[in-house]
Amino acid sequence: GHGVTCGKFILIGEHSVVYGEPAIAMPLHSVRMSARVAHGAPEHWFESELYQGPLARLPASLTGIKAAIEACLEELGERPDGLNFIIESEVPTERGMGSSAAVAGAVVRALFDLYRRPLDRDTLFALVQVSERIAHGNPSGLDAVATSAAAPIHFQRGEFRDLPIALTGVFVIADTGIKGGTRQTVADLGARFAAERSEVEPRILRLGKLTEEARGCLAHDRPARLGELMNEAHAQLAALDISSPELDRLVEAALAHGALGAKLTGGGRGGCMVALCTDAEAASAVAQALLASGARQTWIHRFEEYPA
Ligand code: MEV
Repeated sequence: GHGVTCGKFILIGEHSVVYGEPAIAMPLHSVRMSARVAHGAPEHWFESELYQGPLARLPASLTGIKAAIEACLEELGERPDGLNFIIESEVPTERGMGSSAAVAGAVVRALFDLYRRPLDRDTLFALVQVSERIAHGNPSGLDAVATSAAAPIHFQRGEFRDLPIALTGVFVIADTGIKGGTRQTVADLGARFAAERSEVEPRILRLGKLTEEARGCLAHDRPARLGELMNEAHAQLAALDISSPELDRLVEAALAHGALGAKLTGGGRGGCMVALCTDAEAASAVAQALLASGARQTWIHRFEEYPA
């Protein structure tokens, strides 16, 4: 059986999405995650860049995957003896690109493929969330949806749908090279929400409003306004202590080199940022500037990647 998913970036709405506000995420189909599964191992066996060995002894960082595999076999009504899982990933781990959800999604797709069973989007989502709950504590489900989506998605409270896109801009995603800790930033914001609700809640509501306006910008090709919305979202997230000096530095470098807007993306305090540029030429200039400002890696993303 074979299953493929991909990395993702959140255009806008990370963190506020955990509080029921909407978010917009984009699958990055050029950054692939692949899982293969076959019968015939002496016991369940798992091979990835992070770990090679018995499924029973997966390290703590991967125990969510084991739970998803168990839930998946239960759903399928299968009790095989020795399955061999092989993961090949282009999605960097702990960079806000959805690697944990992407692995779980690829494994679930591979198992359904192995047993030649149809897999609908809701079942896939539910099985990936089994893993995400262990990996992240209180996941909105945004990563679970975005890493297996065909098109950009609008997500709110577990409901998701594909978005119509008319935007002509090009995105640059850059990795700070520093591990993000989604679990930690989500937990810290939760503690802050409880302690200083009157300070935190208006910012979360504002991030929701920015997201709704961003949806209109995507549908009506308004890149300049979308850039402004991204800048404000970054400022709101920074005020909620989700940014870091490295992320701020890359955001400033992108803006100084002609980006229309830039913000951190994903869990924050490390991980990745995203910049919006007018065209491919502007995007490659921004990517160069980001590498010169310390980014470890950059990806250029155009909407033409999505199926029409
Ligand atoms: C992580 O990619 C996105 C967050 O909003 C967490 C979540 O949605 O579960 C930070």
